[in-house]
Amino acid sequence: MNATGSYQFELLEGRNHEANMLAERAQMRLDGFTDLLKRHGFPEQGRALEVGTAQGIRARLMAEHFPNTHITAIDRSDELIANISSYANLSFQHADLYALPFPDEHFDFVYARLVFMHLTNPIKAIASLRRVLKPGGRLLIEDADRDCMFFEPAPASFSKFWEKVQQGQRRLGGDPNVGRKLAPYLKESGFSNITTEVQPILGGGPEIEFLVRTLMPSLNIYLDPKDRSDGHTAINDLYTLSQNPNASFYHFWFVVSGGKV
Ligand SMILES: C[S@@+](CC[C@H](N)C(=O)[O-])C[C@H]1O[C@@H](n2cnc3c(N)ncnc32)[C@H](O)[C@@H]1O
Repeated sequence: MNATGSYQFELLEGRNHEANMLAERAQMRLDGFTDLLKRHGFPEQGRALEVGTAQGIRARLMAEHFPNTHITAIDRSDELIANISSYANLSFQHADLYALPFPDEHFDFVYARLVFMHLTNPIKAIASLRRVLKPGGRLLIEDADRDCMFFEPAPASFSKFWEKVQQGQRRLGGDPNVGRKLAPYLKESGFSNITTEVQPILGGGPEIEFLVRTLMPSLNIYLDPKDRSDGHTAINDLYTLSQNPNASFYHFWFVVSGGKV
């Protein structure tokens, strides 16, 4: 198992392409993002931290919508955050979430999206985020659970591909099923007032096409080289499905927050 987890940008082949795809994927469900933050107790003033911000797309939205809150956004990848500029209430920093360079009880809110499914040690990560939260502050985590993705009609090649993707992600130290575990992890870590929302991503051909274009090829790298041609077949079958006017797509995400007492 790899201690650095299942998303290490610097080790990816075709990094420029992946950076573009990551930015496109980050556009998903931007509508409603600030309402989601408000529902989970985002502060109108004070300090908030985003960990694993990548290109800072959500951090920028936070800073624009909450002008009296200072946002600090960190990422372990120097390359991803290298060219983004900080402004009045937003600063970007290169840092590892397991070793945050901030004092205890510094932030009112901490946010992580699509980071936990890549972490080898989620409980240690939560302890690190908890350390920098003020008493009364909240931690909000959004993450997927790869078992909660359905196509109808499902191509026969999909289930084997998906199982191999999940096995490969586990081999690298990530957890493709972390979504369902977030609330139990927060409980185990001493958080209270835990709120869980399940957010649907629903659609048809265009949503399937988006996924096939922006996500599936990046996941093929989790496969053993001997399985990659099966991966290409599954991706092509999904592309064909995206052209079917009767195709349906259902994906459910977990959005979980808890308070530090
Ligand atoms: C899949 S991307 C998600 C990016 C962004 N949050 C989003 O929703 O589009 C995961 C991000 O977490 C970062 N990351 C992974 N492990 C990290 C760690 N230990 N400390 C800080 N960032 C980390 C990666 O560099 C990457 O930018």
